[in-house]
Amino acid sequence: MRVVVVGTGHVGLLTAATLAALDHDVIGLDEDEEKIERLGRGMSPFFEPELLELIERGSSSGRLRFEVEPADAVAKADVLFICVGTPARASGEANLASVERSARSLARHLSGPVVVVEKSTVPAGTADRLWKVLSRERPDLVDEIEVVSNPEFLREGQGVEDSLHPSRILVGARSVRGFEAMRRLYEPLTSEGIPLIETDIATAELAKHACNAFLALKISYVNALARLCERAGGDVSAVADVMGSDPRIGRAFLDAGLGYGGYCFPKDLQAFERLAARLGYDFPLVREVARINDEAVHATVEKVKDALWNLEDKRIALLGLSFKPRTDDVRFSPALALARKLLDEGATVVGYDPEAGANAKSEVPDLAVAPSAYDAIDGADCMVVSTDWEEFRLLDLERAKGLLSHPIVVDARNLFDPAEMRARGFIYYGMGRAVEHRGL
Ligand code: UDX
Repeated sequence: MRVVVVGTGHVGLLTAATLAALDHDVIGLDEDEEKIERLGRGMSPFFEPELLELIERGSSSGRLRFEVEPADAVAKADVLFICVGTPARASGEANLASVERSARSLARHLSGPVVVVEKSTVPAGTADRLWKVLSRERPDLVDEIEVVSNPEFLREGQGVEDSLHPSRILVGARSVRGFEAMRRLYEPLTSEGIPLIETDIATAELAKHACNAFLALKISYVNALARLCERAGGDVSAVADVMGSDPRIGRAFLDAGLGYGGYCFPKDLQAFERLAARLGYDFPLVREVARINDEAVHATVEKVKDALWNLEDKRIALLGLSFKPRTDDVRFSPALALARKLLDEGATVVGYDPEAGANAKSEVPDLAVAPSAYDAIDGADCMVVSTDWEEFRLLDLERAKGLLSHPIVVDARNLFDPAEMRARGFIYYGMGRAVEHRGL
């Protein structure tokens, strides 16, 4: 099929590269000329494992191209994916101005039957608005334009794997034509047994928000349990293991730590809550999930203060700056929220991240960024693990202990085994684990 993907951010690029890998002819559109020019030279605007290779494969097979000028590509397309950003407004509501703008500009170039797919995460009701915009712009094509919802569920850091081997594909449409186009598009995946779930459009739109909110809820639930375990003397990881052994609950997304971040959960939760409010339903559960999430950063600062007392004149090594491992994305990163709070308390904070150092520095200029974990640790009064990169799990702990001014570890991602750390002579603080050492 001839596919056009509008927007070359995380979702757009992965969608374009994946559909090219499924043997469709794909054109990625973006108004940012520099970005398109760099993509043409095989450079990705962000770090995502295996994505460059996938883009390279698509480009060399001739199945994937990037363009700025939409007219020709849009006129010939069978399917148009809208993958532009839906940032939060000050109110928390999703800002859909880019979605509308894209639809209007695409409409001008349509020439015949086309399926327009909303891929960006959008509140329920957006597909209806989209259809109205398209049909108002092109009353001559009302019977030819189909709008479909096909939310993405991919995770940053494993986006290629999630795109090529998704757990399910969700399609919301209102006519057989819409479903048929999407069945054809994803046939290479469904023929391998990947389920394609077909629903009405509002259900698909709601399901995407419902999934993200529920995953965030699991994380906040276990983080609230962590606070309780710290007070009661239990171990939250063991509690999570017990909970997870019940197949009705499942162990995934029950890792207590510094909380969730990134460009999806915080924004989508707010948008979901605002959507509910707009529809006249009060959904305080969703607000509470966000409030509990903020507690995790505060609890970590308290552990650092418990270990070091006053933070003025203290040097703190922060291992991990991205919102999660295997990405250079620092948007809404809890590690940076922690850095800001420690800096506000007067500490010197030296961060290190395998990929996100430069992005972190531009977000938090007062943060010093070291070229390696050991450089960050060297001379620090305390080491905080803020993102669970595999590199930190493999840290040479004896070397780290030798470099630290005091062997204090605040493990905000529960990477290490508390008993082993204490046996090695560290003063160890985990999340939701009873504290044995207090103060210096
Ligand atoms: C998420 C959804 O998983 C994905 O389906 C959706 O399409 C986009 O949003 P992503 O933002 O890439 O993906 O991150 P995810 O892997 O879900 O992790 C989100 C955050 O939760 C990270 O900050 C992570 O560190 C944190 N997390 C995750 C926990 O704190 N504990 C856990 O047990 C799991």
